[in-house]
Order: sequence, then structure tokens, then C-alpha cells
Amino acid sequence: MNIKHNIQLQPYNSFRTKAVAKLFCEPETEAELSEILQTYADEPKLILGGGYNLFFTKDFDGLVIKPAMRGIKKLSENDDSVEMEVGAAENWDDFVSYCVSHGYSGVENLSLIPGTVGAAPIQNIGAYGTEVKDVIVSVRAVEMASGESLEFSNAACEFEYRNSIFKRMRHYVITSVVFRLSKSFAYKEKYVDVGRELKDLSHPTLRQVRDAIIRIRTRKLPDATLLPNAGSFFKNPVLTKEEKERLLAKLPDAPVYNVGENDFKTSAAYLIEKAGYKGKRKGDVGIYEHHALIIVNHGTENGREIADFMREVQNTVFRQFGVMLEPEVWVF
Ligand code: EPU
Repeated sequence: MNIKHNIQLQPYNSFRTKAVAKLFCEPETEAELSEILQTYADEPKLILGGGYNLFFTKDFDGLVIKPAMRGIKKLSENDDSVEMEVGAAENWDDFVSYCVSHGYSGVENLSLIPGTVGAAPIQNIGAYGTEVKDVIVSVRAVEMASGESLEFSNAACEFEYRNSIFKRMRHYVITSVVFRLSKSFAYKEKYVDVGRELKDLSHPTLRQVRDAIIRIRTRKLPDATLLPNAGSFFKNPVLTKEEKERLLAKLPDAPVYNVGENDFKTSAAYLIEKAGYKGKRKGDVGIYEHHALIIVNHGTENGREIADFMREVQNTVFRQFGVMLEPEVWVF
């Protein structure tokens, strides 16, 4: 059991904000994790993956757990599909790259999403018409209160758009994820941007789809190692029919599409851009010039500046268009 004291968390969050954790550990096995949880039962706890979806506004007076379980293990295989168990600490895009180079399809649309495999189910990462829930068989986790190992079936994870039981109830530490991937591949267009990128190819291969996604993301999204950010900062809002009609009365060209009988999703990026924030900077914090959904950090080490800017964007969008944006990113 290796516990460190007074650890600076700046290298562990992609916004690069400063905060000190009283206690910090990187357990490599479920047994080690369980022992730590029992020993430090009374400490507040925070689970850290790649740190791409959170930032700190103050020190953390408790135990930070950064799961360090590694490995990709093939559990079973038949003519059509393969099941693999992957350790929580594995880098997500390395896993996608591994799948594509072995001809396993299902995660190629999720290429280049930063973070770890263990973080993927928490907010059900998604892009270009795919969500990670589509390929998850089960998730292994340790319950923080008891130190007990549990296995969640796909249904038990209660996946929703950018949400799951692991995000709603922060009671579990994910240790590994079991995926089922297909051994065949036939490209189907799910997203216009990707279709446009592949328009000259009659039968795109898995590798060509991955490369297209990487090109789109590289053009639109800032590299967090060069310009600190946490990807999409807000969720795309889901509106009722009445809210949608009120929005369209103000912004007739707003993109809206059905996601349920009476539910309509609109684009947070569009609202932020219409509110005049695209490319705008306040002090060291701003909105990325090529994509309005990304808050970027030009140099502050103080997360409160990011949180203040977040609230300003939320308030302005709400005042102008009557829609409250909800952060996708965790603010600690
Ligand atoms: N748009 C604007 N201004 C902009 C950018 C976009 O008005 O500056 C509007 C356009 O109408 C555009 C629409 O927003 O057609 C959608 O933009 P985009 O395709 O970039 O997707 P998004 O809805 O902004 C979501 C995910 C991304 C994911 C992309 C692609 C969320 C919160 N974000 O963004 O996920 O990569 O779709 O599927 O659902 C992430 O979660 O960190 C993330 C990057």
C-alpha cells in the first residue's frame, strides 16, 4: 500500500489548475484498492482517470485514487466477435488503435478521445454517432464504502447521454471494462462530418475511418498539451417541446433534432457562438476560436477563474436564449 502525502494535482488535470491532495495513491490491483479503501474509510475520496474531464478550484482534503490496473486480456472469441477485458488505467486511444490494427470494429468512431479506459463508462463517452455503451459488456468496480468487488452488466450501468450510474452515484472505482467488438466491418454513415471526410472512398476501411476521425478532431479540437482544456465543456441541452419552440422563436436556425417523443437536443456550441463567445477571451480563460463548446486556459493556474467564466457563459446564454447549459466537466 503506497500512499503519498501533499501531492500537487496540476499535472493530473488537463486544465492544469493547481490544487494539493492531502493523500494520493495509484493502486495496481483490486486487492490493493480494497485495502486502501478500508484503511482510509473516513476520508473523502476523489477518483482520477486521465484528468481530462475535471478541474480543481481548491485543495482536496482527502484521498485521491488514481486506478493503475493495466492490461488487455482476450476473454473469448468466435467467428464474429471478440470479448476483451481492459484495465482501467489503459489509455483510451491506445486501446482504439489496438482494436483497429487487429481488425476489431466498434470503437473507431471514438478515436482520439483523451483519457483512460476506466473513465470511458463514467460519462458514456461518445462521438460521431457512437457511444461507448454500444460495445460494453460489463464493468468491474470496487465499492468505496465496503471495498467489495462488483460486476455491473451493461444494463446495470444505466447508461444515458454522457451519464451512467458511476457518474450519478460516485460510489464506485472502476477497475476494468469488458468490451465486445466485431471482427467484420462495413462503413455506415452516421455523421455528416465523417461522410464528407470519406466521400472519395467507396468502401472505407476501419483504418481509413479512424484516420478520418483523427483529422476531423485535430482540426476542430485543441490539443490539451498545447492549450489546456477539457474537451466539450457543456452537454448539448435536451429541451421539451415548449422550450424548443421558445428557442426557435428567438433563433430560427438553431439546430434541433428529436431524441425522444417530446425531447429535442440542440447544440450548446451554436448557442455559445450566437451569444458572441466564440474566440472570446477574459483574462486567461476563453472559448476556443475553432469550436465554441471548448473552454480553453491560456495560462491561469487558478481553477476559480475557469469556474467564473463558466458561470458567465451559462448566465449569458440563459439570459439571451432561455436555455441553461449544464457542464459536462466536473468542477472540484
Ligand atoms: N457548432 C457551432 N459552432 C461551433 C461548433 C459547432 O454552431 O463553433 C454547431 C454546428 O451547428 C454543428 C453542431 O454545433 O453542426 C455540432 O458540432 P460538432 O459536430 O462539433 O459536435 P458537438 O455537438 O459540438 C458533440 C460531442 C463531442 C463529439 C462531437 C462529435 C457533446 C457535449 N459533445 O459535440 O464530444 O466529439 O459531438 O460527435 O456531446 C466531448 O464530449 O468532449 C466531445 C468533444
